[in-house]
Parts: sequence; structure tokens; C-alpha cells
Amino acid sequence: MPKPLSILQKINHPLFDKYKVTVQVKRDDLLHNIISGNKWRKLKYNLEKLKQGNYQGALTFGGSYSNHIHAFAYACKQANIPCIGVIRGEAHYANNFTLAWARQWGMQCHFVDRKTYRRRFETNFLAELSELYANYFFIPEGGSNTLAIAGVAEILTELDSQTEFDTLLTPVGSGGTLAGLISGDTVANSKQHRILGIAVLKQAEYLVDEIKYLLTPEGKQHNNWQLLTTLHRGGYGKFSSDDVQRIIAFNQQTGITFEPVYSGKMILALLDLLAQGYFKENERLVLLHTGGLQGLGGMIEQGRLNAEDWPELTKAKEKANAKAIDNGLEP
Ligand SMILES: Cc1ncc(COP(=O)(O)O)c(C=O)c1O
Repeated sequence: MPKPLSILQKINHPLFDKYKVTVQVKRDDLLHNIISGNKWRKLKYNLEKLKQGNYQGALTFGGSYSNHIHAFAYACKQANIPCIGVIRGEAHYANNFTLAWARQWGMQCHFVDRKTYRRRFETNFLAELSELYANYFFIPEGGSNTLAIAGVAEILTELDSQTEFDTLLTPVGSGGTLAGLISGDTVANSKQHRILGIAVLKQAEYLVDEIKYLLTPEGKQHNNWQLLTTLHRGGYGKFSSDDVQRIIAFNQQTGITFEPVYSGKMILALLDLLAQGYFKENERLVLLHTGGLQGLGGMIEQGRLNAEDWPELTKAKEKANAKAIDNGLEP
């Protein structure tokens, strides 16, 4: 068994004592300064394929503040692969926090309006893009393809060598990460853990089919997972000032930074589920920290968060400017 790539960290909180649960965080946010969290896992085999294949470059899709776009641009720069980002939004976003970095790392942004972006899975639209960008390797939004599932699945193999646990929680956007965890659980362990996905967007029930579609054949046998769809706090990227204050307080309590779009919603879900008596006594929980702290930059820029509440971002930026510690992704 190779050494786990990320540590598992026990955290304390008065509510964990009150409800008699133990909580550990799988610190995938520490995997890499820029390609952090689930991005690292999802891109691992995609990059291998890209490097082995005879492609002209790589193309992917995302919103103008997307963590995936940000990580993908950096990974392609490292591997010296020309890359295109098909971005939902107008060209004036080109200088926002996320895209300014992506462009600095060499990504060419192809902006499309929302209506066009909705066609991102349509064969006709993909054919049009293939004509424009011939022999480019296409990776879907969020990086969620079968190669990503294989990368995420490795988290379970690592976890099994690090601890015994009952329940694993992850935030869910496109569903790729959850599908990877479910698939990995069946490969790694004959005893199925309970795997809970916290949907961070509204009306996410449709994702259940997407997740089932992405599962490996073994993953399709797993019957101890669930997508919780009512803990999104108003929709994708939406949160109240109370939500933010609770996340900041939790960050201060644990010394780990969770942000309000993905991992912070998982934290609020955890706290709310605890208060509802959702977990049984002595239940051993693991939270997957999926990274994505770069997203704070955009929210601060838009005035949605106060920079002084998130000093880690400045530190992260400084570190990113220094030499990245690459943990195996270096070409
Ligand atoms: C930081 C972060 N966490 C979690 C997710 C959700 O992952 P998935 O899209 O695989 O459900 C994403 C991306 O979508 C993300 O950027």
C-alpha cells in the first residue's frame, strides 16, 4: 500500500462531545497549493492520459469563478499542454480573481453566454468545438469523467489504511467526487461505509442519476450512500451572513479553513444534522475536505466576504507564488 497522499486530522468541537461522535478530516485541501482537494484526484489520470496521447491540447468547461478551471489551467501549464477554458460568462470576467490566474498560466478563455453554456453536453455543440479546437482532449465541467472516478476512488484505499470509520461526508456539485468515493469504497472494502453527499445546489435530485451513471460496475452494487438535497442553503454559491459567521467560528475552533460554497456547506450540514440527532452515539465520521479555497478570492473581490475574515487566502496566494509542492503531478 503506497503512503497516503493526504493526512487525516481529528478535530474537536463542543457539539461532537455533546452528541458523542468522533470527527476526522481527510485533508485533501493540503495535496497541492493550487490543484487542491478533489481537483487533484480528478485530474490525476486525466493528465496521464493527456500526456500519453497525441493531443494538440486540452479543453474543459466551467463558470467564471470555477475551482476546476483554476486548477486545470495550472496543471496544464505544469505539463506544458495548451489549454482552452469554455467559460460561462462575458469577456469582462477575464480579469477576475480566478480567470486572471488561469490566463496567466496560459489558459485561453472561450467565453459563451448562459444559453450556449447549457449546451455543453450536446453532441452538436461538442462537434462545433472540436472543429474549432481539432484534436483537443475534452474534459467535462468539474472534471467529472470516468478517469476522475478512478482518481477519487483512491481516497478510500488511503482512508482504509488510515482509520476505521462509519460515515464519510463530501460536498457535491456535479456528483463526480461522490461517485468516485462510492466506487472506491467497494473496491477497497468488503464492508460498505455509509457515504453521504451534501448537495450544494438547489433541486439537485437529478444528480442521483448522474452519479449512478458515473459509478463503476462495483460502485453500482453499493447501497449505503445517499445524496442529501435539502442542505444547500438557498442554492449554488448562496449563503447568509449567519452561515458565513458559523463557518468562520468553526474554522477558528478547528484551525482548518472551510469555504462557504462547498466544504463550508458540508460543515453547516454536519452541525445541523448533529443537532437533529441524525448520527448515532459513537459514530465515527470522516469529512472530505475538497479544497477550493481559491474561490474565496472571487467572493472577496465581489464584496461578498471580508478579506480580514479569511487571512488564509493571502497566505495561500503567497505560497502559490512560491514554488508549488507538487506531490507527483510534475511532468
Ligand atoms: C472545492 C470543491 N469541492 C467540491 C466540489 C464538488 O465536486 P463534484 O463536482 O465532483 O461533485 C467542487 C466542484 O464541483 C469543488 O470545486
